[in-house]
Amino acid sequence: MKIIQVTDLHLVAAGATLCGLDPLERLRACIADINVCHADAAHVIFTGDLSDTGAVDSYHILADELRKLVPPHHLLLGNHDDRDAFLEVFPEAGAENGFVQKIVHTPEGILCLLDTLLPGRPEGRLDQARLRWLDERLAEAKAEPVYLFAHHPPFPIGMPLLDTMGIIEADELHAALKRHGNVRHVFAGHAHRPVGGSWRGIPISILRSTNHQTALDFSGGDLAITHEPPAYAVILIDKDNVIVHFHDFLDRSAAYY
Ligand SMILES: [Fe+2]
Ligand SMILES: [Fe+2]
Repeated sequence: MKIIQVTDLHLVAAGATLCGLDPLERLRACIADINVCHADAAHVIFTGDLSDTGAVDSYHILADELRKLVPPHHLLLGNHDDRDAFLEVFPEAGAENGFVQKIVHTPEGILCLLDTLLPGRPEGRLDQARLRWLDERLAEAKAEPVYLFAHHPPFPIGMPLLDTMGIIEADELHAALKRHGNVRHVFAGHAHRPVGGSWRGIPISILRSTNHQTALDFSGGDLAITHEPPAYAVILIDKDNVIVHFHDFLDRSAAYY
């Protein structure tokens, strides 16, 4: 099974730029590349910060572009998003208990998409209602593998400022994952960096934004923005493996044989 992950679109008004880049032009290039190279993907998961401002118009722009995307897609919210504005444009987006979260059944297991948005704050939240929902879904999954997608990483990545903006209830989340033992990988966004590794034994990955990136800097100072290339992830899942490729979709350097 092939899954595509796209994250941190940070859409602004049409024609406007953000950090010296055009988020809409980047999204269009990303969708065009997925359609050419990965139209066979089972699902495309957008892991939040869909909009930079949370403006209703930015979600209309997103809806227009998503009509061109060939594989089925699912949308998650990040700290830059506005849940109400989003649901105005995407009322069908699977709001469970008022949150934009759902599960997707696949032949290789269950995709569990979490809403970690805490309005007005850069950190992520999994309050009791959301933790209960997750606990119930993991219990229902039993021995079936579960793949967790969330905007905020619940784990530190060694970059001090970013590490203050993870999921506040990370320990409670980990306790739930440990209790059920069926989550095979945690996919996140938010950091605007390519990151792989494991969190207390659970494999994790993060990828670059489609727009601007965060400089690799462990000093703890302010976060610098960079123009490192944008990427999407190509995730290959079967019974034995979860493989994550990072594809720099704007890279046009020649391929040699
Ligand atoms: Fe972001
Ligand atoms: Fe974010």
